[in-house]
Amino acid sequence: MSTTPAADVIASPIDSPLTDAEVRRLRQDFPILGVEVNGHPLAYLDSGATSQRPLAVLDAEREFATTLNAAVHRGAHTLAGEATEVFEDARATVARFIGADEGEIVWTSNATEAVNLVAYGISNASLGRGGAAAERFRIGQGDEIVTTEMEHHANLIPWQELAARTGATLRVIPLDDDGALRLVAAAELIGDRTKFIAVTHVSNVLGVINPVEELVAMARRVGALVLLDACQSAPHLPLDVRALDVDFAVLSGHKMLGPSGIGALYGRRELLEALPPFLTGGSMITTVTTTEAEYLPPPQRFEAGTQRVSQAVALAAAIDYLSAVGMPRIAAHEAAFGRRLVDGLTAIDGVRVLGAGIDLPRVGLASFDVDGIHSHDVGQYLDDLGIAVRVGHHCAQPLHRRLGITSSTRASTYLYTTEDEVDAVIAGVAGAIDFFRRGA
Ligand SMILES: Cc1ncc(COP(=O)(O)O)c(C=O)c1O
Repeated sequence: MSTTPAADVIASPIDSPLTDAEVRRLRQDFPILGVEVNGHPLAYLDSGATSQRPLAVLDAEREFATTLNAAVHRGAHTLAGEATEVFEDARATVARFIGADEGEIVWTSNATEAVNLVAYGISNASLGRGGAAAERFRIGQGDEIVTTEMEHHANLIPWQELAARTGATLRVIPLDDDGALRLVAAAELIGDRTKFIAVTHVSNVLGVINPVEELVAMARRVGALVLLDACQSAPHLPLDVRALDVDFAVLSGHKMLGPSGIGALYGRRELLEALPPFLTGGSMITTVTTTEAEYLPPPQRFEAGTQRVSQAVALAAAIDYLSAVGMPRIAAHEAAFGRRLVDGLTAIDGVRVLGAGIDLPRVGLASFDVDGIHSHDVGQYLDDLGIAVRVGHHCAQPLHRRLGITSSTRASTYLYTTEDEVDAVIAGVAGAIDFFRRGA
């Protein structure tokens, strides 16, 4: 299966930000970036919600559908065998991308399902499923699950539900007034009762890269397991789950140039081997009687039902594309634009950039509140200029509540974002303030 990478851009093996000329050449691989919106060329600053797809990804999905489509791990015919091969190759690509082994990658529909897979696996273990091997996952009254006040709802509600199902207590690492994780409070909170810690690598609101290593060290001291929400990090920086020493990590395909409908769970091999399944049914079993079933080893144990094969293949093409450009270069590009957004927006009177004072590295994402103007109005004003941003609570209501607001406007960049687009957002926000204040 060919997954043609970007272009000639690719040659320079350095950590420096992409040049403007390189970004403009990359953009030619993304047909949608050429469209007009409301009479203006689209400026897509909403990659934090979902990223755009290069031709290499669209082609990979189409090529699979037109030359190889078949159900995997089932048929004995040639096409099914070939489809299974590219499906498993795609798994290996994801594994390499994050420093894991291929047996440690489970396909899911999205990151939300991946978090739920772990949470339901733990509660099934807590009901006694999975036998002695699953004992290490059992939780109940007196045990604690720890998460943070900055999580996306996808990495919060499944833990609330797990606590409700098992009788365990959910504890939340608080934020300081800027929005940073309070590590001293975390150290006090994480103790002998802590069985599980779920934390985001990069906040989808603040854009800061959390000091995950410190939380993992706290977890290790008390023998707790750690799940990393890597939805906003895997697309934007080099990620090595082994170097970070996390036990689980979740990825979202549509945020890293891939299609929607595909995500992945990383699980340390011995943990996946011990975790009971979440979804059950076809394709995850060895022997079934009318009263019971034996399950396949991971990752198939967690992949019940017909799989999302063309999406998996397309996600692998997306990863090939990102790798060809180079994750360190993408990270440098993003860090520069994140800083440019924060500085440019902070300089506008009446704009408060959330987390602007946090002294941590960032990706290219900034959320902000405009004094006296609702985020929907700011977003509408920018949309009229062809600038796409996200408005609302970004699935992080507790974080917004902690910062004393109900919603914000978020601009997020990616490897195809130009400096002109970043500056257009900043100028657009200044224009919105002018417009609404004059109208007030
Ligand atoms: C930090 C974070 N976690 C989880 C998710 C959920 O991802 P998915 O859409 O793949 O379920 C998102 C998506 O916005 C996110 O930004």
